[in-house]
Amino acid sequence: MSNMTIVGAQWGDEGKGKIVDLLTSEVDMVVRFQGGNNAGHTVIVDGKKYVLHVVPSGILHPGKMCIIGNGVVLDPASFFEEIDALAALGLDVSPERLKISYKTHLIMPYHRAIDGAREGKAKAKIGTTGRGIGPCYEDKKSRVGVRAGDLTDPEVLKAKIEKALEEKNVLFTQLYGVPALDPEQVFNDLMALAPRLVPYLADASSLIMEANAAGQNIMFEGAQGVMLDIDHGTYPFVTSSNVVCDNASIGAGVNAGLIDERIAIVKAYTTRVGAGPFPTELFDETGDFLRSQGGEFGATTGRPRRCGWLDIVVLREMTRLCDPTTMALTKLDVLTGLKDLKVCVAYEYEGKIMQYPPQTPRGLDNVKPVFEVLPGWEEDLTGCTCWDDLPENCRRYVERIEELLGVKAGFISVGPDRNQTFKH
Ligand code: GDP
Ligand code: IMO
Ligand code: MG
Repeated sequence: MSNMTIVGAQWGDEGKGKIVDLLTSEVDMVVRFQGGNNAGHTVIVDGKKYVLHVVPSGILHPGKMCIIGNGVVLDPASFFEEIDALAALGLDVSPERLKISYKTHLIMPYHRAIDGAREGKAKAKIGTTGRGIGPCYEDKKSRVGVRAGDLTDPEVLKAKIEKALEEKNVLFTQLYGVPALDPEQVFNDLMALAPRLVPYLADASSLIMEANAAGQNIMFEGAQGVMLDIDHGTYPFVTSSNVVCDNASIGAGVNAGLIDERIAIVKAYTTRVGAGPFPTELFDETGDFLRSQGGEFGATTGRPRRCGWLDIVVLREMTRLCDPTTMALTKLDVLTGLKDLKVCVAYEYEGKIMQYPPQTPRGLDNVKPVFEVLPGWEEDLTGCTCWDDLPENCRRYVERIEELLGVKAGFISVGPDRNQTFKH
């Protein structure tokens, strides 16, 4: 194995957590490089369920080093809730094997408050997870963010909080009609967590580079999906970080030359949570079938996920942005029982056939999917352990996707458990 990046290919929830967990057995270190606790990655091992939000999904493998990179935004209280839950399940989440970059930005109570107030007021809601992700990344870019390392310097931290609240309290009281926050209180609450958080801090770049120099293998774990990328996704219905593979080096603090492989996680159909265009969305009983068969309810917010047919235009865009060396095709088992499977191979837009999403502001709302229809299968896939076990129509479906994208499906997933995956 070598160093690899794993990203979601669609609108998130493709099964990244499951594949990261599976491949962790082949690496020494797992690094999360963007997003925050807006993510929800469910991993099932021998029937036992683990839900990860900001902690890398490699944590289930004893002894493997896990790093939260500088590109992540971290909510300290929620981080402790998450690791306490993992510890209760018997996992080692000590600072010996879990590290946070000094440069990681912290999600502050005022970020959550702004996220909630904006979404509450907005006519056209984005449908965020309400975790304060966007406002935290805004402060990072505005150069007024609080970084994890600031916990080691209370003077710097206090000044930052006071400055931030000078502006934000005006917003709270004058615009959003919510109570102002007391800087002293915010500072004290955060400092109360500092003794527990500081031992987790590390120079993440150096740790990763040293591991690489020692011949260890490293996995860079992405959250969300390429269509939620702040630049290349369905803006403004996106998250506030870059999701594409190349952000792995920036969000982990290493040079791009260190990464050899890029694995795109592709769900065998499409889902999305929250608002925004979704050309292949199904509003009929087939959509309900995918939701119930696939258990398509958010791991973070519990919201039902919108479901639709596989969209190759979206995946073609992902392919040109990420150039994946292989794909993991997940949730194929969910399609069992559907007579015909539709695959959107292009869009019709303003009388033209388009291979890539239109760039105009409301273009994606107005495209008509061009479908190809493939025959479905009746057989249960959840016990399949190799390519030859798959029914012929299922193999045809996979091969057609590979052909349309020019990327091999090197991993096939036929159930939620770690064991329900095989190489192809
Ligand atoms: P992530 O955010 O990309 O890690 O994905 P989520 O964990 O949010 O959503 C994927 C869901 O599908 C989880 O509940 C997984 O346990 C489940 N899952 C993953 N792979 C498969 C699969 O191949 N088949 C089925 N039926 N479920 C799967
Ligand atoms: P994982 O890693 C699916 C969506 C939200 C909303 C938009 C912006 O589990 O695949 P945010 O809170 O980030 O400002 O919300 O992005 N979103 C996700 N959808 N899976 C995720 O993560 C998501 N993280 C954010 O629903 O539409
Ligand atoms: Mg998820």
